Amino acid sequence: MEERRLGPVVGLGTWNTFDADAALAGDVVGAALEAGVRLFDSSPMYRGAESALGAALAGRRDGVSVATKIWASSVEEGREQFHRQLEWYGRVEIEQVHNLVAWREQLAWLERERDDGRIDRLGVTHYASGSFPELAEALRTGRFDTVQLPYNPHEREVERELLPLAAELGVAVIVMRPLGEGALVRRSPAAEELAPLREFGIETWAQALLKWVLSDERVDVAIPATSRPERTAENAVAGRPPWFGPEERRLVERLAG
Ligand SMILES: NC(=O)c1ccc[n+]([C@@H]2O[C@H](COP(=O)([O-])OP(=O)(O)OC[C@H]3O[C@@H](n4cnc5c(N)ncnc54)[C@H](OP(=O)(O)O)[C@@H]3O)[C@@H](O)[C@H]2O)c1
Repeated sequence: MEERRLGPVVGLGTWNTFDADAALAGDVVGAALEAGVRLFDSSPMYRGAESALGAALAGRRDGVSVATKIWASSVEEGREQFHRQLEWYGRVEIEQVHNLVAWREQLAWLERERDDGRIDRLGVTHYASGSFPELAEALRTGRFDTVQLPYNPHEREVERELLPLAAELGVAVIVMRPLGEGALVRRSPAAEELAPLREFGIETWAQALLKWVLSDERVDVAIPATSRPERTAENAVAGRPPWFGPEERRLVERLAG
């Protein structure tokens, strides 16, 4: 798989897939590691997924980036979340302020943790376009190293300001919802409609959508979530070049409707 600033370009999301089911998490994470995935995104909001991820990574933590989040309105609660994360993961490679919640308040202590070496990079996330102006404001402080945002053929608002801004500031980009929370893959185009993409290594519609995202060179990593171990290998294939040009991207946009 191609590697960019955050490592291999296909990671794994953990929202609404294995929750606290440690056995399922072990299967999904194990298959993802086998497929070359090295970045795992989670959050205290994801109903036990953080601890299940920690158990799944036990004994195979080397070379892995945990990208989790602080989702707390007070500093005290944020610190408690971080304390638990250190127990599960030892350290946190990418610590993100979830949905911009109390980001100004959380930043100061998070920066100290980064300076002390328990965090490598600080990030910030939001899923809603109404909050993109504030997300841009947070990036302009120069205090964040990564941003996580939604990007797929049906959600392209980030092309207006956030992707150009991230590129200008040197902020690494993590793409959530690359499959539109599953809505884009519920129906697949016919095999012959995907035929022009075969020379790009594309065999499935999910791969075409992921390669659409990753063919934008401002993106560092896409984090599709799945509860099915075998799909992690399918999704990882989309992380290999060659990348789509404008023509192939337009085809995927047309097929996505
Ligand atoms: N949704 C948000 O608002 C949000 C917000 C902040 C952060 N995030 C982060 O971003 C990650 C990704 O976003 P997301 O989980 O919302 O949506 P997503 O990754 O766009 O879509 C996930 C859905 O796609 C399906 N899927 C995955 N691979 C597939 C394949 N090869 N073929 C067919 N279906 C496939 C999964 O179903 P199966 O389980 O059946 O495979 C799942 O229902 C999250 O898990 C989370 O870590 C999301």
